Amino acid sequence: MPLIEIKGASKGFGLPGNRTEVLKNINLSLNQGEFVVIVGYSGSGKSTLINLISGLVKPDAGEALIEGKKITEPGPDRGLVFQNYSLLPWLTVEENIALAVDEVFRDWTKEQRVAHVKKYIEMVKLTAAAHKLPKELSGGMRQRVSVARTLAMQPKVLLLDEPLSALDALTRATLQDEISDIWRENLTTVLWITNDPDEALLLADRVIPLLPTSPATLGEPMVVDLERPRDRKTLNHDPKFKKLRTQLITTLLDAKGRTKSKTSVKLTMPDILPEDLTYVNSLQFLTRSGPKRRSDNKREEVEVAV
Ligand SMILES: Nc1ncnc2c1ncn2[C@@H]1O[C@H](COP(=O)(O)OP(=O)(O)OP(=O)(O)O)[C@@H](O)[C@H]1O
Ligand SMILES: [Mg+2]
Repeated sequence: MPLIEIKGASKGFGLPGNRTEVLKNINLSLNQGEFVVIVGYSGSGKSTLINLISGLVKPDAGEALIEGKKITEPGPDRGLVFQNYSLLPWLTVEENIALAVDEVFRDWTKEQRVAHVKKYIEMVKLTAAAHKLPKELSGGMRQRVSVARTLAMQPKVLLLDEPLSALDALTRATLQDEISDIWRENLTTVLWITNDPDEALLLADRVIPLLPTSPATLGEPMVVDLERPRDRKTLNHDPKFKKLRTQLITTLLDAKGRTKSKTSVKLTMPDILPEDLTYVNSLQFLTRSGPKRRSDNKREEVEVAV
């Protein structure tokens, strides 16, 4: 049985008449120990998709399952790492992680919990900063705390929603390698969301494109059978990597090219028609009926490429 499954899920937001359908017929399965990356355009529904699994979003149709059980709410078996770190600003690195550990492992002794927190701080190379507050850390360090806090809760699956997109390219590269190493050493199951095809291919066992088909749908999964550990410098010259990259980018670009969305726009015009002044010096002007009002504002439907 897959660890995580999404079956025929659809999700939209808003009330009838002003509704956006975001995801349609999403089917996904994630096996124990797999590293799966979903790559898609900004605003295409990536967070909505990962939140079907985190339990923060409920599908309108279909279902999301963990070990065959329906997901109805968030739980410690699914660890979520957000794009923007989400640390408590008044707690140190150690305290931020301890808060989560104390919550999840309530029946452990104090010593066990302290040792556990220490282990995860070491894992993300933050021992020297353990007593610092988030405001004293760089973006990369904050995201390390965020990852350590989530890993320390020992979830069955690690859900990462564009975890590195707020970081500069060099820090991003370092953290990609570090998280990949942690995954290999800990045999965690990972679902990673990104808008970067290179990041997807560097990290994943399988990459699944989220196609901007309005509502978005998942494309064909691509198996990334590149040897690990992967070295970003040599990958760039690897024919297999280059082929996968072209295939992935073409799939995403083609889907975007086919996308057109219908938008209904209400045009608001001044409620008055300009007066015809051609006859201003003639008798006809004296008998004019006065300025006219636009009796109705028309709705127009236009097609725009997005
Ligand atoms: N709670 C909500 N209420 C209304 N609309 C929402 C809600 N959540 C998401 N949406 C809409 O759904 C669409 C997809 O949003 P989502 O956050 O899933 O995209 P994304 O791919 O994660 O975007 P980004 O790349 O910017 O993180 C957007 O049009 C967004 O406005
Ligand atoms: Mg998002």
